Amino acid sequence: MERLQKFLAQNGIASRRKCEEYILQGKVKVNGNVVTQLGTQIDPEKDEVRFLNELVKNTNTKHIYILLNKPIGYVTTVQDQFNRETVMDLIDIKERLVPVGRLDMYTSGALILTNDGDFVYKITHPKHEITKTYNVTLKGKITKDEIENLMAGVVIDDYKTKPAKVRILKIDEQKDISRVEIIIHEGKNRQVRKMCEAIGKKVLALHRSKIGDIGVQNLKIGKWRYLTEGEVKKLLK
Ligand code: URA
Repeated sequence: MERLQKFLAQNGIASRRKCEEYILQGKVKVNGNVVTQLGTQIDPEKDEVRFLNELVKNTNTKHIYILLNKPIGYVTTVQDQFNRETVMDLIDIKERLVPVGRLDMYTSGALILTNDGDFVYKITHPKHEITKTYNVTLKGKITKDEIENLMAGVVIDDYKTKPAKVRILKIDEQKDISRVEIIIHEGKNRQVRKMCEAIGKKVLALHRSKIGDIGVQNLKIGKWRYLTEGEVKKLLK
């Protein structure tokens, strides 16, 4: 808990004295209510403080960015309504984190989690166009035409996907499967699965190997690590 005027001052509104004046003048709201009582205690992690209706960002919060190699069978939510295992069950730290985007329950691979709401907003904004690299295992032998279709963009749910980079990693004729790498920078719901369905191919496995150029090849499945400052900066660029 922290005194309101201290919180305001530490987050760049004005000097502590001046902030006290602002509180007395009714310019400060906590969780939607004007607070004029000096010394009101707030929880910087949970309470929403506004100065002249502008949200005061708690810059004292240490921001945390985690890269998880998600296993299949886990849902990408903070709490699941059906009590299924969530990605949060794999991360044993006390900070409240949210996933940046999502992976389906049966998709494995790179997932970033953070307590930095601004980062989530920026990274998931379509204009940011961060590439996501997927390894897809498909039933059957993929043809050159099918690859070209995927690259040019296919129609899923009345939406034409943007050009993608696609290359064959392996074709196993004996097992009758193809492994393909697909790089996209959009994030429509179940996009890769739907793209493959659109060319008539059945997805046997889907793994996101990279977000931008941050890969999970050195992380065991189910394990996580902190992103470095450099990695975070690069994603935001
Ligand atoms: N595309 C999908 O189909 N599923 C994911 O989890 C991610 C991308």
